[in-house]
Amino acid sequence: MEKTFAIIKPDAVERRLAGKILARIEEAGFIVRAMRLQHLTKREAEGFYAVHRERPFFGELTTFMSSGPCVLLALEAPDAVKRWRDTMGATDPAKAAAGTLRRDFGESIGRNATHGSDAPETAAFELGYFFRGMELI
Ligand code: CMP
Repeated sequence: MEKTFAIIKPDAVERRLAGKILARIEEAGFIVRAMRLQHLTKREAEGFYAVHRERPFFGELTTFMSSGPCVLLALEAPDAVKRWRDTMGATDPAKAAAGTLRRDFGESIGRNATHGSDAPETAAFELGYFFRGMELI
């Protein structure tokens, strides 16, 4: 079993899609190991997305991610990192495959409904950024 980190982003929570997305997560075979509703501060969002700080969209991204509450999740499944990325689909909802979460619920590349760790090493950092070790047992 492997763990990955996921976010149901503020655009999806605002549109009351969190329940539908959680149902899809469970249907895709994940166990929800930890979960929290949290309205990130701008500083918390900047720390989380620090690898993107040189990108032109960094300000827009962190303003959006701190614009309302999101759902933070630790998901467990065999090959969870890849499985979750496949479940979400491509970053840009317009390019995401049919049946993926971003295709079904994303509005734009920024307001794309969900986030997921892109590699096991990233998952370890992202899980540790938001959850205490005890919450992930
Ligand atoms: P996420 O998986 O959360 O990781 C980084 C995020 O940056 C990504 O999803 C997108 O929502 C966002 N992003 C990537 N490219 C752009 C862009 N060109 N403009 C705005 N946001 C972007």
